[in-house]
Amino acid sequence: MKLLDDLQSSDFENLTQLSRRRFIGAGAACGAALFLSGNLLSRSVMAATANAGSSALLGFVNIAASTADTISLPAGYTSSVLISWGQPLHTGGPAFDPHGKNTASDQEVQFGDSNDGMSLFAMPDDENRALLAINNEATDYRFLFAHGKAPQSAEDVRKALASEGVSIIEVERRGQSWQFVQGSPFNRRIHGNTPIRVSGPAAGHDWLKTAADSSGIEVLGTFQNCANGQTPWGTYLTCEENFTDCFGSSDAQQAFTPAQQRYGVSVESEDINWHQHNERFDLAKHPNELNRHGWIVEIDPFDPQSVPVKRTALGRFKHENAAFAETKDGRAVIYMGDDERGEFIYKFISRDKINRKNPKANKDLLDNGSFYVAQFDAGDSDKNHPKGHGSWIELRHGKNGLTAANGFNSQAEVLINARLAASIVNATRMDRPEWIVVSPIDGKVYCTLTNNAKRGNEGQPVGGPNPRAHNIYGQILRWREANDDHASTALVWDLFLIAGNPQQHAGSPQAGSGNITAQNMFNSPDGMSFDAAGRLWILTDGDSSNSGDFAGMGNNQMLCADPASGEIRRFMVGPVGCEVTGISFTPDQRTLFVGIQHPGEKGTSTFPDYQPNGTPRSSVIAIRREDGGIIGS
Ligand code: FEO
Ligand code: CA
Ligand code: CA
Repeated sequence: MKLLDDLQSSDFENLTQLSRRRFIGAGAACGAALFLSGNLLSRSVMAATANAGSSALLGFVNIAASTADTISLPAGYTSSVLISWGQPLHTGGPAFDPHGKNTASDQEVQFGDSNDGMSLFAMPDDENRALLAINNEATDYRFLFAHGKAPQSAEDVRKALASEGVSIIEVERRGQSWQFVQGSPFNRRIHGNTPIRVSGPAAGHDWLKTAADSSGIEVLGTFQNCANGQTPWGTYLTCEENFTDCFGSSDAQQAFTPAQQRYGVSVESEDINWHQHNERFDLAKHPNELNRHGWIVEIDPFDPQSVPVKRTALGRFKHENAAFAETKDGRAVIYMGDDERGEFIYKFISRDKINRKNPKANKDLLDNGSFYVAQFDAGDSDKNHPKGHGSWIELRHGKNGLTAANGFNSQAEVLINARLAASIVNATRMDRPEWIVVSPIDGKVYCTLTNNAKRGNEGQPVGGPNPRAHNIYGQILRWREANDDHASTALVWDLFLIAGNPQQHAGSPQAGSGNITAQNMFNSPDGMSFDAAGRLWILTDGDSSNSGDFAGMGNNQMLCADPASGEIRRFMVGPVGCEVTGISFTPDQRTLFVGIQHPGEKGTSTFPDYQPNGTPRSSVIAIRREDGGIIGS
C-alpha cells in the first residue's frame, strides 16, 4: 500500500479524474479515495478531512457496512417511515392485516407491495404538498396470504394483481417532516386489473388482440412495475419488467415461438401460478395476452380519473426505468434498459418538440418517434478504466435488416419483438442493464450493469463495457453523446466504477476499480438518481450474505458518488434481506424518500415495526438532516 507521501510523480502521469489506481484503497486512515482536482492531488484537503475523504460535494462521513435489521445513516441524519405495504389510502379504508387476511378488494385500496421506483410531483402553488407516484413491483406470498403459499384460487390471483402496479399518494410537510395524507382525493391505486389503453404504432395490432379485447387497445392492468421515469409535462412513467414470470401454460408440452422463448416464458410460470386460476395468464389459451405486457405506461398523477396509457413506441422488453432527456432542438428522449443477462440498452427520440407552454399538448408526444439500440465497441485495454466509442442503431421497419424476410412486417412488429429486432442489428449484449440516469450538470448518461454471472458464456463475449467473465459484482457505465446532444447517434463511453471486493480479491479484476475500497465496497448497483447538485446516488440489489465473495459488504445499501472525482461513500444501509430501490427528493433537497423493498426476503426482518415476530413490510422512508440541511451536502 502506498501512502500519500510515497506517491511518485510517475504515479500521477496516468491519473485522470476517473482513472485512479489503488494507492490507498485499503488505508484505514483514508477511508475513502484520493481526491483529485483536475489531475492534481489535494494533500491539504486530504489531511484535513481524514476519514471523511475529500470530495467537496460529499459532506458526510462514510458509514460502515452493517448486517443489523435497521436503517443505518451517518451521524446527524434521521429517518421515518412514510408509508408501508397494506396501509389504507382512503379515510375509513380497510386496515392492514399482518396475518394475510385482507381481501383482494381491501388490497385494491391499500398501498401496494414491494415498492420500487418513484417520482415526486410538486403541487403547483403549494411548496408544502406533493404527489408521489410509487411502483409496486411484486409480492411475497408468505405474507400476502394467510396460507402463505402461491395463489390457490381466482380470488388469490386477484389479490396478487391488486398488490402490484402503482400507488399514487399525496404527501405534505408537517413541521420538519413530510407525511402521507390519508384520504387525499389524489390517492389512487392502478393495479393488475385496472383498465389501460394501448397507444402508438403497435396499438390494435393483431398480435395484441385477445378473446377479451378484439380491438387490441384495451388491456387489463400493469404489473411487475420496476422503476420509473418522469416527464417535464407532469406525467409518470412506470416500467413493466418481469412480466413473463406471470404467465404459464396448461399445456405442459406447449411449443413456444422464438419470440416467446426470447422473452423467457416457461410452462411453470416461476411459481407464480396465476395461469392455474385465471386463464388470462394461460399461454395455451390466450397467447397474445403476453404481448400486451412489457411496456412503459404513462400516467397523469394529477387526474385520478385518467386512463393510463401503454406507449408502444418505446418498445417491449423487461423495462427497468425510463430516463428523460431533451435534444438540443427540444425533443424528448427516453433512455431505457432491458434487465436480463445479455440484453440491451435503448433510446427513444420523439418526432415532435416538447410544448413547454402547454403541458397537455404533450399527451401523445411519446407515440411518435425513432427507436434505437446501443452498440459499444471493445474499447481500450485499460483494465482499471475501460473506455471507448459507441453508436445508436435505429430499429425502424425496412432499415438495417428489419424486413419481412427477417420476420418483421411492420414497425409494430419491430416494437413488439424489440429484443429480436435488436439482435438482428447486432446490438451489444450487456450485463443486465438496470437504471439509467442523466446528469443535470453535464448531460452524461449513467447506466448500472448490475451483474451477470454468465458473461463469458451463452454468446456474451467478455470486453468493452462488460469487461469481466462471471461478473458477480456489477459496474456503472457512463457515456457522453456526440456534440452533447441526446439526438446523436454516436457516443464515447467509459466505466465510472467497477464494483468488487478488494479484501477478498486483492490484485484481481474482482477487486474492482480504484474508487472501490474496503470501506465503501458493495455489489450489484441497481437504482440511481442525481440530486440537484449533481451527486450520484447509487442503490444496491445484491447478495447480502456478507460472506465469501461478499464478505464485508453487509446488507443492501445506498451510496453517494462525486461524479467528477469518482469518490464514493456509503450513506445508508437497509434492514436485513431488503433491496434498496426507489429514490426521490423534495424540491428543496432537504428530504430524501427511499424505498425499502421486501425486507426479510432472506433472513429475518421485523422492519418497519420491529415487533417480535412482526410481519416485514416494504416501505418508503423519509430521510432528513437533524439540522434541516441539504441531504448529502
Ligand atoms: Fe426490478 Fe431489474 O429490477
Ligand atoms: Ca432494479
Ligand atoms: Ca436488480
